[in-house]
Amino acid sequence: MISRVRTLCFCAALIATAANAQLAARKADEWVTTLEGPQRVATQKVDQVIAKLNLKPGMVVADIGAGSGLFSRPLATAVAPNGKVFAVDIQQDLLNYMDKRNKEEHIRNTQTVLGEFNDPKLPRRDVDLAFINDVLHHIENRAAYLKNLGAYIKPSGRIAIIEMNKDDPNTPHKNQPELLVSRDQITQWMSDAGFKLVEEHADLFPGTKWFLIFGRQ
Ligand SMILES: C[S@@+](CC[C@H](N)C(=O)[O-])C[C@H]1O[C@@H](n2cnc3c(N)ncnc32)[C@H](O)[C@@H]1O
Repeated sequence: MISRVRTLCFCAALIATAANAQLAARKADEWVTTLEGPQRVATQKVDQVIAKLNLKPGMVVADIGAGSGLFSRPLATAVAPNGKVFAVDIQQDLLNYMDKRNKEEHIRNTQTVLGEFNDPKLPRRDVDLAFINDVLHHIENRAAYLKNLGAYIKPSGRIAIIEMNKDDPNTPHKNQPELLVSRDQITQWMSDAGFKLVEEHADLFPGTKWFLIFGRQ
């Protein structure tokens, strides 16, 4: 009996661990080399994406899964001087990289935040825009994450999601089904979190990525 209980506890622990995984994780130096590589940067259309977000000085932005800060830095510029960017990541080593780089580049309106697997752990609940580029597929429990994220967004706030189109025949993770997310799934998770699609920019990444912006229902 005791051994059966022990086995059950062990299995429960394994399931709990599996539910809190980062999919396709890498070390910080590998991430930085990949994320800041010229080929990747060219495909991200950073300036055009930032322009579509319609940010104003003074706004509060959360860059979810900020990585090396490729987007956090121009986001900080867009809301400067008195706006703020929270650059959230699950890896402390990436936060350290961003802190160092922000200091070197005299970016003073960004605060790095160590998130949890299912919760960004933002220090404020008046976020104007949460921005999630190339991150959703790394999160195992996407529905729970988006629901928790919604609680940090102010009533007029928005959540912008850019994610790879799983039906693109050349999509990078086509042989890793666990990393594929559909547009319908995203809109359903967002609806369950209390958000509806208010804007879509299909022209920026035709066929390859979705660029969806949600506001409260
Ligand atoms: C492909 S990178 C994208 C980085 C950045 N958004 C960009 O586009 O350059 C994915 C990032 O998501 C982070 N990440 C994965 N799971 C996460 C989670 N549950 N919460 C926050 N960040 C997460 C990873 O550590 C990594 O930095």
